Amino acid sequence: MSKRIEATDLNVYYGDFLAVEGVNIEIEPRTVTAFIGPSGCGKSTFLRTLNRMHEVIPGARVTGEVLLDGDNLYAPGVDPVLVRRQVGMVFQRPNPFPTMSIRDNVLAGVKLNGGRMSKSDQDDLVERSLRGANLWNEVKDRLDRPGSSLSGGQQQRLCIARAVAVQPDVILMDEPCSALDPISTLAIEDLIEELKKEYTIVIVTHNMQQATRVSDKTAFFNIAGTGKPGHLIEYDDTSVIFSNPKVKATEDYVSGRFG
Ligand SMILES: Nc1ncnc2c1ncn2[C@@H]1O[C@H](COP(=O)(O)OP(=O)(O)OP(=O)(O)O)[C@@H](O)[C@H]1O
Ligand SMILES: [Mg+2]
Repeated sequence: MSKRIEATDLNVYYGDFLAVEGVNIEIEPRTVTAFIGPSGCGKSTFLRTLNRMHEVIPGARVTGEVLLDGDNLYAPGVDPVLVRRQVGMVFQRPNPFPTMSIRDNVLAGVKLNGGRMSKSDQDDLVERSLRGANLWNEVKDRLDRPGSSLSGGQQQRLCIARAVAVQPDVILMDEPCSALDPISTLAIEDLIEELKKEYTIVIVTHNMQQATRVSDKTAFFNIAGTGKPGHLIEYDDTSVIFSNPKVKATEDYVSGRFG
């Protein structure tokens, strides 16, 4: 299940624009890693390279390698659709299919993958995934209601259930709580703590308290200026990044003295 991610000498381009340069990072299974850094430094760009979502943008490409338990995701012949099945993603804005039922939202990824399942297997998977996303008790009596009938925080947990349902090895989350209130945010953070037992988790966040609460490791990205590529500046235990970083730019950023 939970797998190790290793990026080596990764450069990410949008056409001719080098957006992120020379990232080397190793992310261990069953850990939560936070990506932090100022707007535009390439956190989302780099995150998307970890499941080849980057490639859906015309002109976007990478050089270097991303290994999942040693297998290069970018090797010739690797199917990006299978990569995205192994490495799931949760976005900033909860994006359930609005008219689809709660139940069908959970099954959406599995059905896309062409899986044929009996009704009772589907029911089991729906319950397991919704329990895994800590949403079951709130929705078990209204599984046939549309996804849009849920609150924002519930919708985000539904999206997590949808990601979990395909049984990935890794879950990537790009600012999953930025559209949520503090209570829903804490619910997602508790959930991340639970999911960590089974998955490798990477989360982009602008919320420093959140990074300290949920992550084991933190990666600080930065840019030297507009039009320059983003770099991974420092990567260490979260406690080190926030209390005793080695690089001055990291210290300035985490202490709010940035810019
Ligand atoms: N689809 C795209 N096409 C071209 N350039 C892009 C695209 N998406 C992002 N960029 C550029 O790549 C750089 C990194 O952007 P990215 O969205 O990865 O930053 P970020 O660190 O996630 O910022 P934020 O904290 O605001 O979300 C920026 O210069 C941005 O303008
Ligand atoms: Mg971003």
